Amino acid sequence: MHSKKKLVVGITGASGAIYAQRFLKFAAPQCERIYLTMSEQAFQVARTELKIPISREQFDLAGWLGEPIDNTELLSERDFFTPPASGSFRHDGMVIVPCSMGTVGRIANGISNDLVTRAADVCLKERRPLVVVPREMPWNVIMLRNLTTLAEAGTTVLPACPAWYHNPNSLEELADTVVARILQVLGFEQNLMKQWMVEN
Ligand SMILES: Cc1cc2nc3c(=O)[nH]c(=O)nc-3n(C[C@H](O)[C@H](O)[C@H](O)COP(=O)(O)O)c2cc1C
Repeated sequence: MHSKKKLVVGITGASGAIYAQRFLKFAAPQCERIYLTMSEQAFQVARTELKIPISREQFDLAGWLGEPIDNTELLSERDFFTPPASGSFRHDGMVIVPCSMGTVGRIANGISNDLVTRAADVCLKERRPLVVVPREMPWNVIMLRNLTTLAEAGTTVLPACPAWYHNPNSLEELADTVVARILQVLGFEQNLMKQWMVEN
């Protein structure tokens, strides 16, 4: 029923690198291939928040996720000679997690100046699923308008607003309340959060 997916994943420099880390960990086993691209700021924020020596030059995904993952390819954010840059490449959708308000603004205004924003642009023009996971507070009216533009264009705006009613015991469990929703929206199986009022 659930054939393995080809997924595009963008990581940008908003706070919440843990969401990207947890998402990749759970999505990768269900994917045929993940095309991953990270902005320069995404690396900086991930180093700051997760205390890991992650860099474009020394990219150790297994070390980052704590387990070997062999189906994920890191693409340079500057390289448009890559599959997600073109509508001719068929895939099952894209998520940008976490998504900075700068990236939201660029996508909403058609400024596809790196691989994250170009791949998102392609998703919208090809009517493919696009999920953005913005994180900022408070939101100014420009941010709200940009998010509305994305929603009107068909994007699922899934803010990094973790839920507390599952009584999480760790930061990972708290982050997983968001990750579970991303997985669900993109059609993945997930056992991180039970369905409300449904047994098993
Ligand atoms: C530690 C840190 C946390 C940040 N958190 C956020 C955030 O939560 N949301 C946001 O929109 N920008 C945040 N920023 C600012 C972005 O990194 C900055 O706007 C950057 O230009 C985004 O670039 P990118 O979209 O290419 O990744 C943060 C920056 C730093 C250094």
